[in-house]
Amino acid sequence: MYLITLDSETDFDGWRKAARALALHHIAPVDVTWGVQGQTKDQMPPGLSEAPSLPPLEIESTFNVPANFIELARVAILHRDGKRFALLYRLLWRLKADHDLLAEMTDPDVTLATAMASSVHRDVQRMRDVVRFREIGREQKAHYAAWFVPEHHIVEFAASFFARRYADMPWSILTPDICAHWDGHVISFTAGISQTEMPAPNRLEETWRRHFQADRPIAPEAPQKRGRNLPEASILEPLLTDAERWTGGRITPHPEAPMPRKSAADDLETLREEAAHCRACPLYKDATQTVFGEGPKSATIMLVGEQPGDKEDLAGHPFVGPAGQMLDRALQEAGVDRKKVYVTNAVKHFKFVPRGKIRLHQKPNTPEIRACRQWYERELAALQPSLVVAMGATAAQSVFGKITPIGKNRGRLIDLPDGRKALVTVHPSYLLRLPDPKAKELEYQRFVDDLKIAAGFREKSARAA
Ligand code: URA
Repeated sequence: MYLITLDSETDFDGWRKAARALALHHIAPVDVTWGVQGQTKDQMPPGLSEAPSLPPLEIESTFNVPANFIELARVAILHRDGKRFALLYRLLWRLKADHDLLAEMTDPDVTLATAMASSVHRDVQRMRDVVRFREIGREQKAHYAAWFVPEHHIVEFAASFFARRYADMPWSILTPDICAHWDGHVISFTAGISQTEMPAPNRLEETWRRHFQADRPIAPEAPQKRGRNLPEASILEPLLTDAERWTGGRITPHPEAPMPRKSAADDLETLREEAAHCRACPLYKDATQTVFGEGPKSATIMLVGEQPGDKEDLAGHPFVGPAGQMLDRALQEAGVDRKKVYVTNAVKHFKFVPRGKIRLHQKPNTPEIRACRQWYERELAALQPSLVVAMGATAAQSVFGKITPIGKNRGRLIDLPDGRKALVTVHPSYLLRLPDPKAKELEYQRFVDDLKIAAGFREKSARAA
């Protein structure tokens, strides 16, 4: 009897390698027992802990199995039934003699493996349907967490779906098996949270802190598998902050949100009128009006800011306050005529908190940016600019559809998937806030230099046209 110990419950590569070696050694399925690292001796059949491991393969030989078996095995291996490894090896063994075995739908092994794969697929679909993120951590560095109990070992498999769907917000999905984390760039995994500690919705943040705060070592049962890491500090940081904000429920547009239109490009005036009644997020409630983009239809450059400020909210025009004046000056120095560019914002309502007579600017959060992105997309479709300049982190998040650091990306032309170019730079308000005059002047010059790249691009395109 041979004992094969896989690295984890989802170690398909380990299973595949071992199964191939076993088959090439002509070791029959009845002579093999499968286990997973970390299983205690009392979880194993008696006497097995002393069973020999597989001898190394001496010859570089191989055999072919149908591609649909590999696909089936890749999914069925995620089933929670402990007998799945043996079942799949039995199928592989039988496929050596009968290449068409999978077509025999009444065969008990085929039926069972297919049923397992279907059950895994249903569980993945259920996860996609029921996972509800809640915003935790401080508003400006929000993080989103969800609790889910999978029926099968699907979290790693399903995580890429959530990374694509919620690419622009950092999230964690906590489960008893394993926890998945997305920081806007990479997915990482940490040990699961025991079922007895299952957090009630209002205790999600508390659970998060208990398990993932930066100064606490990872739980001893942390998976050892390659590629599973502690969450990045950038993931942890917001969760250690004090304030809590709960958006309540899945991050979807506000119930009164107009459905984004998928039609061919609207004209900008139609868009402006429609956006005036936008209820896609709660920001419309306190703002004076929607501040839509402005500029000529012939503009080839679109400048994107964060959101209207106090002055813009009152005037109904983008970039007319202090940040606008700074922008005008820099554009002029860079050789860009503001009257020839289209200027807009990622978020089109002013977000603020009242402080006496003053309205204090608040950074928009990810759900607000997402809710407003339909307007940016439709402006883009209507205008068809060849270059989009993202000023600041909020604009970059909207333009790229995910969190995009300024420092790493600024000052160069970046290809967008739709064939346009993007240029990332700082927001003029950032320059206004710099206290040191020297640093301010230096940063201002860098901003002008970035805008000169836009001017150069426009000239080159005009010459080529
Ligand atoms: N800041 C912005 O991002 N946009 C404006 O319109 C004004 C200030």
